[in-house]
Amino acid sequence: MSDRKNRVCPVERAGSLDNRIRRWLQDPRKILRPYIKEGMTVLDLGCGPGFFSLDIARLVGKSGRVIASDLQEGMLQKLRGKIRGTALEEQITLHKCEENRIGLSEDVDFILAFYVVHEIPDQEVFFNEIKSRLKPNGQVFIAEPPVRVSKTAFEEMIRKARDAGFTPVERPKVFLSKAVILKKALP
Ligand SMILES: C[S@@+](CC[C@H](N)C(=O)[O-])C[C@H]1O[C@@H](n2cnc3c(N)ncnc32)[C@H](O)[C@@H]1O
Repeated sequence: MSDRKNRVCPVERAGSLDNRIRRWLQDPRKILRPYIKEGMTVLDLGCGPGFFSLDIARLVGKSGRVIASDLQEGMLQKLRGKIRGTALEEQITLHKCEENRIGLSEDVDFILAFYVVHEIPDQEVFFNEIKSRLKPNGQVFIAEPPVRVSKTAFEEMIRKARDAGFTPVERPKVFLSKAVILKKALP
Protein backbone atom coordinates (compact mmCIF):
# COMPACT_ATOMS: atom_id res chain seq x y z
CA MET A 1 0.00 0.00 0.00
CA SER A 2 2.83 2.43 0.77
CA ASP A 3 4.12 1.84 -2.78
CA ARG A 4 0.76 2.95 -4.13
CA LYS A 5 0.78 6.04 -1.96
CA ASN A 6 4.19 6.96 -3.32
CA ARG A 7 3.04 6.49 -6.89
CA VAL A 8 -0.05 8.73 -6.72
CA CYS A 9 0.67 12.42 -7.24
CA PRO A 10 0.02 14.04 -3.82
CA VAL A 11 -2.45 16.87 -3.36
CA GLU A 12 0.43 19.06 -2.11
CA ARG A 13 1.79 18.99 -5.67
CA ALA A 14 -1.44 20.37 -7.16
CA GLY A 15 0.18 23.79 -7.66
CA SER A 16 2.79 22.32 -10.01
CA LEU A 17 -0.04 20.91 -12.15
CA ASP A 18 -1.91 24.16 -12.66
CA ASN A 19 0.14 27.27 -13.29
CA ARG A 20 0.96 29.77 -16.03
CA ILE A 21 4.14 28.08 -17.18
CA ARG A 22 2.38 24.77 -17.74
CA ARG A 23 -0.48 26.56 -19.50
CA TRP A 24 2.08 28.09 -21.84
CA LEU A 25 3.85 24.77 -22.50
CA GLN A 26 0.73 22.58 -22.60
CA ASP A 27 -2.19 24.83 -23.56
CA PRO A 28 -5.29 22.67 -22.86
CA ARG A 29 -7.34 24.33 -25.61
CA LYS A 30 -4.68 23.80 -28.28
CA ILE A 31 -4.16 20.19 -27.23
CA LEU A 32 -7.83 19.24 -27.04
CA ARG A 33 -9.60 21.45 -29.62
CA PRO A 34 -9.11 18.95 -32.48
CA TYR A 35 -10.97 16.25 -30.53
CA ILE A 36 -13.57 17.87 -28.28
CA LYS A 37 -16.71 19.34 -29.86
CA GLU A 38 -19.69 21.22 -28.54
CA GLY A 39 -22.32 19.08 -26.85
CA MET A 40 -20.00 16.22 -25.95
CA THR A 41 -19.90 14.47 -22.60
CA VAL A 42 -16.24 14.22 -21.58
CA LEU A 43 -14.64 12.27 -18.76
CA ASP A 44 -11.52 13.97 -17.40
CA LEU A 45 -10.13 10.98 -15.54
CA GLY A 46 -7.56 11.72 -12.84
CA CYS A 47 -8.47 15.38 -13.25
CA GLY A 48 -6.24 16.51 -10.36
CA PRO A 49 -6.83 20.20 -9.60
CA GLY A 50 -8.64 20.61 -12.95
CA PHE A 51 -5.94 22.01 -15.25
CA PHE A 52 -7.82 20.53 -18.23
CA SER A 53 -11.38 20.36 -16.83
CA LEU A 54 -12.21 24.08 -17.11
CA ASP A 55 -11.13 24.37 -20.73
CA ILE A 56 -12.91 21.13 -21.59
CA ALA A 57 -16.10 22.66 -20.15
CA ARG A 58 -15.61 25.73 -22.39
CA LEU A 59 -15.03 23.51 -25.44
CA VAL A 60 -18.17 21.39 -24.90
CA GLY A 61 -20.22 24.52 -24.19
CA LYS A 62 -23.53 24.75 -22.38
CA SER A 63 -24.98 21.76 -24.20
CA GLY A 64 -22.11 19.53 -23.09
CA ARG A 65 -20.84 18.13 -19.79
CA VAL A 66 -17.59 17.30 -18.07
CA ILE A 67 -17.26 14.55 -15.52
CA ALA A 68 -14.11 15.37 -13.58
CA SER A 69 -13.08 12.28 -11.67
CA ASP A 70 -10.24 11.67 -9.27
CA LEU A 71 -9.16 9.20 -6.63
CA GLN A 72 -8.27 11.93 -4.16
CA GLU A 73 -10.95 14.04 -2.54
CA GLY A 74 -8.30 16.74 -1.95
CA MET A 75 -7.84 17.18 -5.73
CA LEU A 76 -11.61 17.40 -6.26
CA GLN A 77 -11.78 20.04 -3.49
CA LYS A 78 -9.25 22.18 -5.38
CA LEU A 79 -11.34 21.96 -8.54
CA ARG A 80 -14.54 22.61 -6.59
CA GLY A 81 -12.96 25.82 -5.26
CA LYS A 82 -12.14 26.99 -8.80
CA ILE A 83 -15.63 26.55 -10.23
CA ARG A 84 -17.77 27.48 -7.21
CA GLY A 85 -20.04 30.40 -8.07
CA THR A 86 -19.06 30.41 -11.77
CA ALA A 87 -21.10 29.39 -14.82
CA LEU A 88 -18.88 26.32 -15.21
CA GLU A 89 -20.30 24.83 -12.01
CA GLU A 90 -23.37 23.75 -14.01
CA GLN A 91 -21.30 21.91 -16.58
CA ILE A 92 -18.72 20.13 -14.43
CA THR A 93 -19.76 17.17 -12.29
CA LEU A 94 -17.19 16.05 -9.73
CA HIS A 95 -16.89 12.31 -9.24
CA LYS A 96 -14.75 10.49 -6.71
CA CYS A 97 -13.52 7.18 -8.11
CA GLU A 98 -11.73 4.22 -6.56
CA GLU A 99 -8.23 2.96 -7.27
CA ASN A 100 -9.38 0.28 -9.71
CA ARG A 101 -12.94 1.34 -10.38
CA ILE A 102 -14.18 4.58 -11.90
CA GLY A 103 -17.78 3.59 -11.21
CA LEU A 104 -19.61 5.76 -13.74
CA SER A 105 -23.16 4.93 -14.72
CA GLU A 106 -23.31 6.91 -17.97
CA ASP A 107 -21.55 6.64 -21.32
CA VAL A 108 -19.20 9.34 -22.60
CA ASP A 109 -17.96 10.65 -25.97
CA PHE A 110 -14.39 11.35 -24.98
CA ILE A 111 -12.02 10.36 -22.19
CA LEU A 112 -8.91 12.29 -21.22
CA ALA A 113 -6.34 10.58 -19.02
CA PHE A 114 -3.44 13.00 -18.84
CA TYR A 115 -0.42 11.89 -16.75
CA VAL A 116 -2.66 9.34 -15.01
CA VAL A 117 -2.44 5.82 -16.42
CA HIS A 118 1.01 5.10 -14.91
CA GLU A 119 -0.56 5.78 -11.49
CA ILE A 120 -3.34 3.20 -11.99
CA PRO A 121 -2.43 -0.15 -10.41
CA ASP A 122 -4.39 -2.46 -12.73
CA GLN A 123 -4.31 -1.12 -16.28
CA GLU A 124 -6.12 -4.16 -17.73
CA VAL A 125 -9.10 -3.50 -15.47
CA PHE A 126 -8.89 0.21 -16.32
CA PHE A 127 -8.96 -0.31 -20.11
CA ASN A 128 -11.86 -2.76 -19.85
CA GLU A 129 -13.88 -0.35 -17.74
CA ILE A 130 -13.33 2.68 -19.98
CA LYS A 131 -14.19 0.59 -23.03
CA SER A 132 -17.55 -0.25 -21.50
CA ARG A 133 -18.25 3.45 -20.80
CA LEU A 134 -17.13 4.85 -24.17
CA LYS A 135 -19.73 5.47 -26.88
CA PRO A 136 -19.14 3.54 -30.16
CA ASN A 137 -17.33 6.37 -31.98
CA GLY A 138 -15.72 7.81 -28.87
CA GLN A 139 -12.04 8.48 -28.39
CA VAL A 140 -9.59 8.19 -25.52
CA PHE A 141 -6.66 10.59 -25.21
CA ILE A 142 -3.80 9.28 -23.10
CA ALA A 143 -0.69 11.29 -22.33
CA GLU A 144 2.11 10.11 -20.07
CA PRO A 145 5.12 11.93 -18.63
CA PRO A 146 8.31 10.78 -20.43
CA VAL A 147 10.40 11.10 -17.26
CA ARG A 148 8.27 8.53 -15.44
CA VAL A 149 7.14 6.36 -18.35
CA SER A 150 9.76 4.81 -20.63
CA LYS A 151 9.12 4.09 -24.30
CA THR A 152 8.88 0.38 -23.45
CA ALA A 153 6.40 1.00 -20.61
CA PHE A 154 4.30 3.22 -22.89
CA GLU A 155 4.20 0.58 -25.65
CA GLU A 156 3.30 -2.04 -23.04
CA MET A 157 0.43 0.18 -21.92
CA ILE A 158 -0.79 0.41 -25.54
CA ARG A 159 -0.57 -3.38 -25.81
CA LYS A 160 -2.89 -3.69 -22.79
CA ALA A 161 -5.27 -1.21 -24.45
CA ARG A 162 -5.25 -3.33 -27.63
CA ASP A 163 -5.96 -6.47 -25.59
CA ALA A 164 -8.98 -4.71 -24.10
CA GLY A 165 -10.32 -3.93 -27.59
CA PHE A 166 -8.84 -0.54 -28.47
CA THR A 167 -6.98 0.54 -31.61
CA PRO A 168 -4.40 3.34 -31.52
CA VAL A 169 -5.40 5.78 -34.27
CA GLU A 170 -3.03 8.70 -33.73
CA ARG A 171 0.10 9.72 -31.84
CA PRO A 172 -0.44 13.43 -31.12
CA LYS A 173 2.61 15.57 -30.45
CA VAL A 174 2.30 17.02 -26.98
CA PHE A 175 5.18 18.82 -25.28
CA LEU A 176 6.75 16.77 -22.46
CA SER A 177 4.50 13.79 -23.17
CA LYS A 178 4.11 10.48 -24.88
CA ALA A 179 0.57 10.54 -26.24
CA VAL A 180 -1.87 8.30 -28.07
CA ILE A 181 -5.49 8.46 -29.24
CA LEU A 182 -7.44 5.24 -28.92
CA LYS A 183 -10.72 4.18 -30.51
CA LYS A 184 -12.72 1.04 -29.99
CA ALA A 185 -11.53 -1.65 -32.39
CA LEU A 186 -14.07 -2.67 -35.02
CA PRO A 187 -15.77 -5.96 -34.13
C1 LIG B 1 -0.09 13.69 -12.16
S1 LIG B 1 -1.75 14.03 -11.72
C2 LIG B 1 -2.41 14.65 -13.25
C3 LIG B 1 -3.63 15.48 -13.06
C4 LIG B 1 -4.25 16.06 -14.32
N1 LIG B 1 -4.68 15.02 -15.23
C5 LIG B 1 -3.30 16.98 -15.01
O1 LIG B 1 -2.72 16.62 -16.05
O2 LIG B 1 -3.10 18.09 -14.49
C6 LIG B 1 -2.48 12.43 -11.61
C7 LIG B 1 -3.88 12.45 -10.99
O3 LIG B 1 -4.45 11.14 -11.16
C8 LIG B 1 -5.12 10.79 -9.97
N2 LIG B 1 -5.16 9.31 -9.88
C9 LIG B 1 -4.17 8.47 -9.54
N3 LIG B 1 -4.58 7.20 -9.58
C10 LIG B 1 -5.86 7.24 -9.98
C11 LIG B 1 -6.87 6.24 -10.19
N4 LIG B 1 -6.60 4.95 -10.01
N5 LIG B 1 -8.09 6.64 -10.61
C12 LIG B 1 -8.35 7.97 -10.77
N6 LIG B 1 -7.47 8.95 -10.58
C13 LIG B 1 -6.25 8.59 -10.17
C14 LIG B 1 -4.30 11.42 -8.87
O4 LIG B 1 -5.06 11.58 -7.68
C15 LIG B 1 -3.89 12.74 -9.50
O5 LIG B 1 -4.82 13.75 -9.25
